[in-house]
Amino acid sequence: MWRVKPLDAILATAEKKSLHRSLGAFQLTMLGIGAIIGTGIFVLTAEAAQKAGPGMILSFIIAGFVCAVAALCYSEMSSMVPVSGSAYTYSYAVMGELLAWMVGWALILEYAVAAGAVSVGWSGYVVGLLENALSIDIPNALVLGPMDGGIVNLPAAGVALLVTALLVVGTRESAAVNAFLVVVKISALSLFCVLALPVIKMENFEPFAPLGLAGISAAAASIFFAYVGFDAVSTAAEETKNPQRNMPIGLIGSLGICTIFYILVAAGVIGTVGAQPVLSAAGEGLRPGSAELTAACQTAGATQVVCSKEALAWTLRSIGWPQVGNLLGLAAGLALPSVILMMMFGQTRIFFVMSRDGLLPAVLSKVHPKFHTPHVITVITGVFVAAFAAFFPVGVLADISNSGTLFAFAMVAIAVMVLRKTDPDRHRPFRTPAVFVVAPVAAAGCVYLFLNLSKDTKLMFVAWAVVGLAVYFLYGYRRSHVGRGLTEVHELDRDAPPGAVPPMPGADPN
Ligand code: ALA
Repeated sequence: MWRVKPLDAILATAEKKSLHRSLGAFQLTMLGIGAIIGTGIFVLTAEAAQKAGPGMILSFIIAGFVCAVAALCYSEMSSMVPVSGSAYTYSYAVMGELLAWMVGWALILEYAVAAGAVSVGWSGYVVGLLENALSIDIPNALVLGPMDGGIVNLPAAGVALLVTALLVVGTRESAAVNAFLVVVKISALSLFCVLALPVIKMENFEPFAPLGLAGISAAAASIFFAYVGFDAVSTAAEETKNPQRNMPIGLIGSLGICTIFYILVAAGVIGTVGAQPVLSAAGEGLRPGSAELTAACQTAGATQVVCSKEALAWTLRSIGWPQVGNLLGLAAGLALPSVILMMMFGQTRIFFVMSRDGLLPAVLSKVHPKFHTPHVITVITGVFVAAFAAFFPVGVLADISNSGTLFAFAMVAIAVMVLRKTDPDRHRPFRTPAVFVVAPVAAAGCVYLFLNLSKDTKLMFVAWAVVGLAVYFLYGYRRSHVGRGLTEVHELDRDAPPGAVPPMPGADPN
């Protein structure tokens, strides 16, 4: 179970057929922003406020910092090992099969559960838009999951299934569509800042941390979700011109731009409508996504931003810009499906590679004869994502997704250090600066955020890991291709970023 997949075998794949190096710093930054801005800022701002109050501004900064140092580690790995499977593949080469399996298993949380979270976020905005712009009132029972006071979130499940269908027929987002949606999202957030920031009142920032440092840390662990997606940039390593220069610019640039927007937007929300949490009779913050908070919000007549499912549109409506609020809802409605698409695509790729490695059944990597897409695994993923989206609140899904992502990020940070020691002479198109400072800080930051997730989330993660171990020892351990001496690497395992219009798995008959 400590067997590794030799790095040279993995790299043989990339060398066989190199992609044209065409991406510059600007395209990489656009790619990153396209994957990053989504449900996190548009929806989870309300949850962060419920956990931290105005102190959520610090939560955004903490989470952004952890992502920045993790991103530096990611870029060294991805430029060295530019094949698909992301953190799973890096771990396979460096830390052995068992840990690689666990990382792949955790990435299921990162991608599939995140796709569910973004679907629920999308539903909140679209339902709000229908109600406010067109006065179409849909019963809560059909647009909220059971924990939020409804029965089933049909729009969320619907958008997840629609994206699944697009992926089955082989839809990839083109660079042009990505660029357009980035402009839509940036314009929406800019408009929000222009309208909200001039009318902020400093007294709304008081009390700054009603739930203390613990609240700020808990909000940081949740709002971490808003930054996830920058790994899309690192998967483009092999198509990047001068990766030593452009990779860090793309990663840090997209993260930096998003961080600045996030802080300004958070300040706009706090300063205009206040961001004080709803407290229980005992003075404790009610947990987002809990029945207690839903009930408290219903009694309060939803007059607080923490009760809103569309925090930014709600804020604009509350400060006298109802039409612009609707416009922002429209922007979210247009742009969020592309984030779902990227997440689900990432998920199918990870499954696909794990199945190719023999750790999951081969039937999962079957390619559709006409569409040339891994349709079996895409449909299975889609059904699960739709089920998550239908029945769980956005914050619960985002936190679970974060637990998997944090595990994977920490593993990559460790892998970078291990490889510097065990294989110091290998060519590294990008080197993490001050790696023995940056990587431990990244790993420690991930552990800190993980520990600040809710107890339920941590338990879910542990349960998921136990199931993962069982699956590995019952199946993967014996079926592994590396274990059986089959270390061939398929050309089609190569990864390619969304927006770069790469071949789908199986598109090439060789
Ligand atoms: N960062 C992405 C979002 O916030 C996942 O939707």
